[in-house]
Amino acid sequence: MSYLKERIIQDGIVINENILKVDSFLNHQIDPKVMREVSKQFVEYFGNKGVTKILTIEASGIAPAIWVASDLGVPMLFAKKTEPSTLKSEDLYATEVHSFTKNKTSRVIVSKKYLKSEDKVLIIDDFLANGEASLGLMDLVKQSGAEVVGVGICIEKSFQSGREKLEQAGADIYSICRIKSLANQTVEFVEDEE
Ligand code: G4P
Repeated sequence: MSYLKERIIQDGIVINENILKVDSFLNHQIDPKVMREVSKQFVEYFGNKGVTKILTIEASGIAPAIWVASDLGVPMLFAKKTEPSTLKSEDLYATEVHSFTKNKTSRVIVSKKYLKSEDKVLIIDDFLANGEASLGLMDLVKQSGAEVVGVGICIEKSFQSGREKLEQAGADIYSICRIKSLANQTVEFVEDEE
């Protein structure tokens, strides 16, 4: 069993049938051991794909992304939800990301300087729900002419549509934990039945 799964079982709080609270170890207070272990698994899966850059979106994707970047010895780039006044619009790639969870659409950007057509990009994020964040990041990579080598996710909510959408978009997805259901105040994992 992965350490992340252990922490979810021990400390995850089911808020409702769609939302799992993990702020004691993943997206507010962060357990470095969770980061170390998930990074190890991402490196095992994606390590031989010639990754040149890790891409994520602020804020909660940054912690796992920097750990993977460090383990692979490549830079980590995070898409920003606010546009820095120092960047002119012609100097950035931009896309819209709609969050169903937060019922909010954000314009997210990265500087053209840090995504090049020769890059092989691994996308890392904390949650996969409806796939909007990852699809937005894939769009930014596409605009740059670079290649997405895969998408690494800490917690996938497999009962939502994200995996299906990303697969349709041709992504190789690797999730550390796959949650089948959050019904009845209980976390049920996909692999529990396998
Ligand atoms: P999607 O990208 O897969 O479509 O997911 P969605 O829009 O539904 O989720 C958007 C935000 O909500 C993301 O944070 C994501 O991490 C968070 N989120 C989604 N499902 C859960 C959940 O079950 N529990 C928790 N705790 N968070 C969830 P964000 O908008 O990028 O903001 P940030 O928290 O990274 O700053």
